[in-house]
Amino acid sequence: MKRHILAIDQGTTSSRAIVFDDQAQPMASAQAEFPQYFPHDGWVEHDGEEIWNSTLAVCRQALEQARLNASDITAIGITNQRETTLLWDASSGELVHRAIVWQDRRTAEFCKELREAGHESRVTERTGLLIDPYFSGTKLRWLLDNVEGARERAERGELRFGTVDTFLLWRLTGGKVHRTDATNASRTLLFNIHTQDWDDDMLALLDIPRGVLPEIMDCAADFGTTDPELLGGPIPVAAMAGDQQAALVGQVCFKPGMVKSTYGTGCFMIMNTGDAPVSSSNRLLTTVGYRLNGKPTYALEGSIFVAGAAIQWLRDGLKLIQHAGETEALAEQTGEQCGVYLVPAFTGLGAPYWDPKARGAIFGLTRDTGIGEIVTAGLQSVCFQTRDLLDAMTSDGGNSTAALRVDGGMVVNNWVVQSLANILGVQVDRPRITETTALGVAYLAGLQVGIFDSLEAITQRWERERSFDPVMPEPKREALYQGWVDAVRRVRD
Ligand code: G3P
Repeated sequence: MKRHILAIDQGTTSSRAIVFDDQAQPMASAQAEFPQYFPHDGWVEHDGEEIWNSTLAVCRQALEQARLNASDITAIGITNQRETTLLWDASSGELVHRAIVWQDRRTAEFCKELREAGHESRVTERTGLLIDPYFSGTKLRWLLDNVEGARERAERGELRFGTVDTFLLWRLTGGKVHRTDATNASRTLLFNIHTQDWDDDMLALLDIPRGVLPEIMDCAADFGTTDPELLGGPIPVAAMAGDQQAALVGQVCFKPGMVKSTYGTGCFMIMNTGDAPVSSSNRLLTTVGYRLNGKPTYALEGSIFVAGAAIQWLRDGLKLIQHAGETEALAEQTGEQCGVYLVPAFTGLGAPYWDPKARGAIFGLTRDTGIGEIVTAGLQSVCFQTRDLLDAMTSDGGNSTAALRVDGGMVVNNWVVQSLANILGVQVDRPRITETTALGVAYLAGLQVGIFDSLEAITQRWERERSFDPVMPEPKREALYQGWVDAVRRVRD
């Protein structure tokens, strides 16, 4: 019997499915974009049915492309955009509202009230997070309070809450299984990172009935079996992890101090901190990196909301380019010292600023500013934000990072990765497989079903494709970065 893993990577702008063989090599993949809804300033929604339909379609396409049947797939792993909040009817499966996406800021006022009432230190102590609209808890409360009848139905046990992992598992198992994993749970504001369970105090603070919440599992576990009708036969779901944590696993950052940074819609830098949760003095998040055999490995995370999304905006919003691929040549022609700064605070600023009210701006425009300068500034904004995170992490963790492992769609752009090395002043390593998120959850599923033996065996599989060393002199680097710090100060005034 052939042994393969189907990794589902349900991201913010697209759903993907990748089939891996038993050597963790990608064999086939399919991807589908789906619509984004922006009903008000700072609001971002997805249609859960579009998430589900696109996910199912890409799974079928990937199997077809690989010429495999359900019986050739040993297990499925699910990784997903985190925090995005869904609520549905337990009997009909019908969603009560569009999904509220992680970028959505609609609960900013409520978060401010909670902070002003002095709750933040208690929340951080228990959940490792900050009181910010980013996390699921206040989004779920908004749904319960704003969808007619939702709170009553939830109290009667008729509704189920889930982040995207949980929702997909529910649909894949034909409405039979309501489970999540510890990494996704650790992003809800409802999960206690010390007890590794839902926290009654947080449920009371946010007024969430416990009955709507899923059961929390390890990342590699027996999550349930797919409805045979969906993919041509039953397939066990053997792993789940939030996409950023899955990327940590895909980059084999299993030792404390190892750091990865993933460039998708946003950018998320995660450092493995080992057995103990480290609390940040720089407004980074303490989160579950992965949980295996009941044992959590903790991580520090810096989350920025707009990375690839800035390039998407240059393409779809401003129409300055037709394809993201054009940006590399434009930036090469323009050069790093273009004097224009773009702060992509479209939905506020994430770590380390956590300012939901900040909005984007472009500074330094002159009569000769053209498309090249604005595109270059868009690419550089991703590098500068990464520097903000690395500085915060270094100051929390004490020692400086030897090398940063990068992955995600944007790192195919050599100019970006070189500029990243220049602005950070550290070596940046790009692995051979940059679809690290899907790879990470395939590793986790493979561990569960015995395709891979151990984390040590997985570690051996990591291969560097290219290393980028900083080539910019220190004074230039610091002057360039100071321009960014100044631009951020101005969007927050
Ligand atoms: O926390 C949000 C994150 O999980 C989204 O990831 O890859 O869809 O930008 P991505």
